[in-house]
Amino acid sequence: MIEQQIKAAIRDIPDFPKPGIVFKDITTILKDHALCESIVNAFIERLGNKQIDAVAGIESRGFLFGLTLANQLGVPFVPIRKAGKLPYSVKQKKYDLEYGSAVIEMHTDAFEPGAHILLHDDLLATGGTVMAASELIHDMGGHVCGFTFIVELGFLGGREKIVPVSDEVIALAVY
Ligand code: PRP
Ligand code: MG
Repeated sequence: MIEQQIKAAIRDIPDFPKPGIVFKDITTILKDHALCESIVNAFIERLGNKQIDAVAGIESRGFLFGLTLANQLGVPFVPIRKAGKLPYSVKQKKYDLEYGSAVIEMHTDAFEPGAHILLHDDLLATGGTVMAASELIHDMGGHVCGFTFIVELGFLGGREKIVPVSDEVIALAVY
């Protein structure tokens, strides 16, 4: 049900950001407040009574639902940002992209050591971004207790990459 609603709302943009890629545009989901609410509720229902001390969301599209999810769970939200954006002391992680590399950062006081962190992003593709975020959380003494995504591009194999971190991989719409 929710999967069909999400797939009906998503807009496919061919050849963006480069030829051959079909971009999954979720801005069309954001226009539907009832669907946004259903998405957060579906995450909460599937998480059950799992121990979650904070939700971490990855810049930028992971912020859209990450904060609402944290608010609904009644736990802090931790922003994981691209390099140079966070003002306080940070710890960073470099990771490889198809071409070149990128760096993500988190505030050093984002959570207490041993905290159970739910990692959220809008979309799981190759898993490179969320894997780097998991390693950053691990380096800071946190425990990744699960992942939530609105969309999973299953044919890119991201799930296989992240399952060793936590087998709680919740994706609402799988392609
Ligand atoms: C997209 C998407 C995920 C990531 C998934 O973000 O929002 O964060 O790529 O790809 P992966 O699983 O292959 O790592 P993008 O880097 O385009 O930035 P944005 O969220 O700021 O738009
Ligand atoms: Mg992103």
